[in-house]
Formats: sequence, structure tokens, C-alpha cells
Amino acid sequence: MSDLYDRDRRANAGLQKLRFFPQAVVGGKGSRLRTDDGRWLLDLSASWGAVSLGHGHPALVSAVTAAVADPAGASVLSSATSPATVLAERLLALWPGAADRRVWLGHSGSDAMEAAVRAARRATGRQGIIAFSGAYHGCTTGTIAVSGHQSLGGDRAAGLIQIPFPDASRDEDGAAILADLSRRLDATPDSVAACLIEPIQADGGMVVPPAGFLSALAALCRRHGILVIADEVKVGLCRTGATHAHTAEGFTPDILVLGKGLGGGLPLSAVIGPAAVMDGATAFAMQTLHGNPVCAAAGLAVLEVMAHDRLDRQAAERGDQLKAALSRLKTRHPIITSVRGRGLALGVELALGPDRRPAAAETARLVWRAHELGLVVYYVGTGSNVLELTPPLTLSGAEAEEAAAILGQAFNDLAAGRIPDDAAAGFAGW
Ligand SMILES: Cc1ncc(COP(=O)(O)O)c(C=O)c1O
Repeated sequence: MSDLYDRDRRANAGLQKLRFFPQAVVGGKGSRLRTDDGRWLLDLSASWGAVSLGHGHPALVSAVTAAVADPAGASVLSSATSPATVLAERLLALWPGAADRRVWLGHSGSDAMEAAVRAARRATGRQGIIAFSGAYHGCTTGTIAVSGHQSLGGDRAAGLIQIPFPDASRDEDGAAILADLSRRLDATPDSVAACLIEPIQADGGMVVPPAGFLSALAALCRRHGILVIADEVKVGLCRTGATHAHTAEGFTPDILVLGKGLGGGLPLSAVIGPAAVMDGATAFAMQTLHGNPVCAAAGLAVLEVMAHDRLDRQAAERGDQLKAALSRLKTRHPIITSVRGRGLALGVELALGPDRRPAAAETARLVWRAHELGLVVYYVGTGSNVLELTPPLTLSGAEAEEAAAILGQAFNDLAAGRIPDDAAAGFAGW
């Protein structure tokens, strides 16, 4: 274990750690991270999808440097500022449509999802929320209360309706889920404020829903006056190969929530929704540094690079390439039971037997070995058995091949029994 990792263990709180192997980094460039012992790791996580442009992108460096040097204050609470206003205008332009919308800026997916849920409850005068089991919407008290991920303890909200997220890779069509929900809503009319939808359920296992399911769910919600909130914190903004992930699922949410990749690695999130909801009150959902010029400038730089370099197309092409390479691995390794996702939001499921029992222990050892071989990849899933690939959207073709080759080596080592049984002991993951 490196000196830095050991010092971190003694200084930084375990409460905020989700560790899979003894990673200790001191710098980064593009798709790579530099470790404290001088190795370069190929980063297939991009800090859980946040580092959308890769590490140290020049556009981000110069935008942030300029914003720190000549700051328009530090907050949007009591002053209009240029970076926050331009960013909001750009975000509105990125989501065309007739609706009169407003933008709320925050620091994280958690604060944005919490603000969206509170605003929806306020606007509708209803308390109920529909959310999916397996869904991770954040780690604040308010978002834990509407999440369904096994890693989150804490109380669930009164009036929470949790429904299963159907999995296209298991040929589930979700019809029974919709029928049950419809009966329930008919029985308790006017009680539900919002329905929280991830277009791909990321932390639940990069689960892709069957075609038409989410659009049917959105239509059902509309009939009951329920606001549809798309949580695109992880898979939004070009990652799936389109500007917004919901377009592939054929529905338009009332409220769109963005985070992670929007800041390119800086703390930034956004809620975009109808003016009637977003202007419904003042001083209602605010934190001192919301809309601060440094993070807003970072967001603007990210959006500019995304548009200029067509990172939507790049994510689609690179994703196809990576998915094809992973599908070839699947033919050689029966433990890989599903390769799924869209663009550069990909999942590789590891399971055993005809009933696809989650291979959690094998997954933990595999990511540990991949790290030893020079690759950063973590796992997600309600069974802790799905590799999550959310690399920088700037990943090159050569890097995609290199990543697949390292993963191939790790799977060979797993199959040949070359990874010690206790390799990942002490790294709990989730
Ligand atoms: C879909 C989704 N929503 C919300 C969040 C919370 O975002 P943050 O960790 O930035 O608070 C996450 C984090 O993983 C997420 O994946």
C-alpha cells in the first residue's frame, strides 16, 4: 500500500469513501491518471462520469483560471452574474421546445435532485413520489428518502411508491409494472407530485429499460398530473451519444436534472424546469456558493467543447467500438452475461448459472486486478456485479482498444485462478 493511500486512511473520513482498490493519484492528463508511484492509469470511470472532457482539458483550465482571477462575486443568491446567466441561457438553448423554462444551479447531483423534488412537491401541493427500486438519486437526507439503492441507509419518504426497473437484457417488458402502478394511482388520485426517472439506471447496474417502457410511464404520469423528472446526472450531456439521454427513450420530461459531466470535474449541477415550478418561490432552495462564477465558467467551457468537438457523436462512435470489443470478450468468458448501455455509458454484468446469480466476489477481484494492470474501472448494481464504464467523452479509439485488452487480461486471469481469493479483502465497494 502506498504512503499516500495510508496517510489518506489516517486523515480522511471513511464516511465519504467507496473504495475498490488502493488507488492513490497525484495528477492526470486526458484519459489517464498519474499515481503517487509514477504509474499512469487508463481511467474508464472519469470519477464516476464527472470528468467529461478528460483530465486537465485546456479549455477548462483557461476558463477556470480566468474566472478565479476576475470573479463576478462568488454567488448568484443576491446578484445577477455573467457566468451564471450565460450558462443558464446555454442550458435553455440546449433543450429546445415551446415551454417557458428556468434554470437552477447547484453543486451536485444530490442537491439538484433534492431541489427538483421539493419544487415539484411545492408546485403540485402533493407529497407522493414515484421512484425505482435500485435507483440512486443522491446522498443527502432528502434524496436518500426517494432512492432505492441498497447502499443507502436512512428513512424513506412517506408516500414513496417504489417500482421495479425492467431490464431489457432479461427480456422484461414492464407491462405488469405499469398496470400495477396505474391501478394504484387510480385508487389514490391527486397524491403524487413527481416520478423520478433515470433513462438508464446507472448505479442500479447500468440497466437499459425495454423500448417504449419509459415513454408509457411518462404518459401515465401525465394523465395523473404527475411531474416527470429525468435524472440525467450520470448519463446526461452527450454521454449516451445524444445531448440528452431521454430522447432515445421517446419521452420529454417536465424537469431535467444534470450534474457530474456538466462541471467537467468541478462541482456543478442544474435543474431545468417550467417557469411556473422554478419561479414558484424565492429563497426556497439555495446554498451560498450556488451559481458561483468559477463553476459556472467551467460549465460553459464544457458545453462549448461538447458542441465544438461534437462529443455526442464521439461518444456514440467510441461507445459502439468499446461495446463491440466487450461483446467479443463475452463470447470467450461465460461469466460475462450482459454487455449493455448506450454511447459511453456501458455496463458489463458478471453472473453465474442459468439464473444469472450475481458474481459479486468475482467482480470485486476483477476490478482489483484491472487496477493492478493499469485500468480504473468500478462496479455498480443491486448485486454488486456490473462493471460501470463511464470514461471521458474524449477517449480515443486507441485508448478504447487498450482498455478492452486490459480487461481481457483481467478476465483471463480471473478464469485461470490467477487472482488471489482475498485480493480485494478490505475493499468493501458497495
Ligand atoms: C443518477 C444519479 N443521480 C444523482 C446522483 C448524485 O450525484 P452527486 O454524487 O453528484 O451528489 C448520482 C451519483 O452517482 C447519480 O448517479
